[in-house]
Amino acid sequence: MWRAWSGILSLLIISCQPSSETTQTESKADTTQSAKSITLEQWRQLADSLTVERQRVILQSLLTVSEKEGWGGAVRYCHAAADTLTFYQSAKVSFQRVALRYRNPKNALADSLDKAAYERFAKSGQKESFITEVGDGRLRVYRPIYIPMVQCLKCHGKPEDLDGQALAEIRKRYPNDKATGFAMGDLRGMWKVEIRP
Ligand code: HEC
Repeated sequence: MWRAWSGILSLLIISCQPSSETTQTESKADTTQSAKSITLEQWRQLADSLTVERQRVILQSLLTVSEKEGWGGAVRYCHAAADTLTFYQSAKVSFQRVALRYRNPKNALADSLDKAAYERFAKSGQKESFITEVGDGRLRVYRPIYIPMVQCLKCHGKPEDLDGQALAEIRKRYPNDKATGFAMGDLRGMWKVEIRP
């Protein structure tokens, strides 16, 4: 079991490094023991630690760039960096953010499980993630993203909260944007992690 944990932990650490290291990550993750040696609860916690760390990196980058280049600059940065910051895919593990009202169409709810998970969080306000077996030995972990701070509203808020420059950049880059109109505490989307045997 510890081998499996350390494999995934190295994935966690290495996945935040530039993409030249990704190949190494995959081979390490892929040589971990089978999914069965770890309990569902442990997988859920591992998936949480992955996405919490990734969320921290995204937020830190957003705030740093916005201080230097304003919220418009932060939108340009987000748009350019989204693929490396918010997506991860290897043979064993993939994760991304998904949402009902999405900005990037790649982040749309993709299947009935995504939709059911979103509805579950929207109805219950549940803060914790949950894990579900998808079949063929695959597992999925969904973790809700509620709007945690006012800075999010510069780019996702109601008209009076949106930043003018941010909005101009969003309109240019995401002509079919559905991701404004939110308030503090609203369900903005979910982290979706898939683990394959
Ligand atoms: C500087 C503007 C900006 C700020 C501030 C911002 N976002 Fe975003 N957000 C974006 C952009 C741009 C995208 C689309 C990224 C992409 O192309 O995948 C996005 C996408 C998302 C998504 C993925 C679903 C979708 O709509 O495509 C979630 C979830 C999300 N943001 C949550 C948040 C939260 C929570 C905060 C506050 C902690 C926040 N955002 C702050 C610009 C911003």
